[in-house]
Amino acid sequence: MNKVKLGNQGLIIPNVGLGCMGMTGFEDADMYGKTDEKEAISTIYRSFELGGNFLDTADLYGPFKNEKLIAKAIEGNRGKYIIATKFGWEIDDNEQITWKINGTRDYIKKSVDRSLKNLKTDYIDLYYMHRLDKNVPIEETVAAMSDLVNEGKIGYIGLSEVSSETVKRAHAIHPISAVQSEFSMFERTVEEKGVLKTLNDLGIGFVAYSPLGRGFLSGHIKSINDLPENDFRRGIPRFQEKYFHRNIELVKAIEALAEEKNITSSQLAIAWIISKGIVPIPGTKRRKYVEQNIDAGKIILTENDLAKLESIVPLGTDTGAPYDEFSMGLLDY
Ligand SMILES: NC(=O)c1ccc[n+]([C@@H]2O[C@H](COP(=O)([O-])OP(=O)(O)OC[C@H]3O[C@@H](n4cnc5c(N)ncnc54)[C@H](OP(=O)(O)O)[C@@H]3O)[C@@H](O)[C@H]2O)c1
Repeated sequence: MNKVKLGNQGLIIPNVGLGCMGMTGFEDADMYGKTDEKEAISTIYRSFELGGNFLDTADLYGPFKNEKLIAKAIEGNRGKYIIATKFGWEIDDNEQITWKINGTRDYIKKSVDRSLKNLKTDYIDLYYMHRLDKNVPIEETVAAMSDLVNEGKIGYIGLSEVSSETVKRAHAIHPISAVQSEFSMFERTVEEKGVLKTLNDLGIGFVAYSPLGRGFLSGHIKSINDLPENDFRRGIPRFQEKYFHRNIELVKAIEALAEEKNITSSQLAIAWIISKGIVPIPGTKRRKYVEQNIDAGKIILTENDLAKLESIVPLGTDTGAPYDEFSMGLLDY
């Protein structure tokens, strides 16, 4: 697999990561359909065999179930993996999500120790602030994360869904290695808001989460009724009545282009992100998909391919909001 530098602090990762969120349930529901622990662990192994040793998780996923699953999968091989996890959605001592964001020093200290325990490790390679706590200055949050670097508990610092201004303020306190935000052919807010340019100027890496538009760009979802009753995506405007029919037409055009190139539309969506110097972390719980996604890391798109894609989904295309109103309010834009 091709390797890339993520930020300027020394982190080197494969050019396609593995998003693990969908491998475990979330509270009482499954995120993206039925989970299967055995297949999920086999997916992590298969990814590793193919060079895909960059795993993305968060304490929120489960909560904690996802970190524990990863611990199980990588047991005995910790040093061979690069683990990214996140803190910030507040989880209380009864393991309940409070639905508040907490970026205070005390909470960070508690969160990192909990994640280390759940991951059965003594260090986290890349530790992200999952969402900005708008009641705590970013300087305070990053200073606390910086202390974790000095203590050897984490290797590198990342932030998720932050604005250019927040990144600049954070980077002045401690070098930020990565920002992770939603980015795909259906979601280009970070490009529109100038975040990608800021990261480029500061030498900070960008990791694209939900690079397949939460599966929409795979072309496998033909109707909202294809999604299980308790599927997370049913609550997202992009998948709802108003936008679904428009978006599915865009997906069909992307699929047609992928077919011309003898690849899948998921692979085209991943290759398009890589062509921008961005690391996608497609999420899957199946060996078959992880193989295809890693293969996509070898596809080189021509200028002509890229122009055709841009003409299908030009910057600024309105595909609907990526979250419900509550979660949109937690983004830093
Ligand atoms: N920082 C944040 O706030 C944040 C938010 C969301 C996600 N994330 C991270 O980003 C990762 C990826 O995002 P995501 O999982 O939300 O969305 P995604 O990668 O855009 O899409 C995941 C969906 O695509 C399907 N899929 C994956 N590969 C496929 C392929 N080759 N062909 C057809 N379908 C395919 C998966 O199916 P199966 O599940 O059936 O395999 C799943 O339903 C997550 O796992 C998580 O680690 C971070």
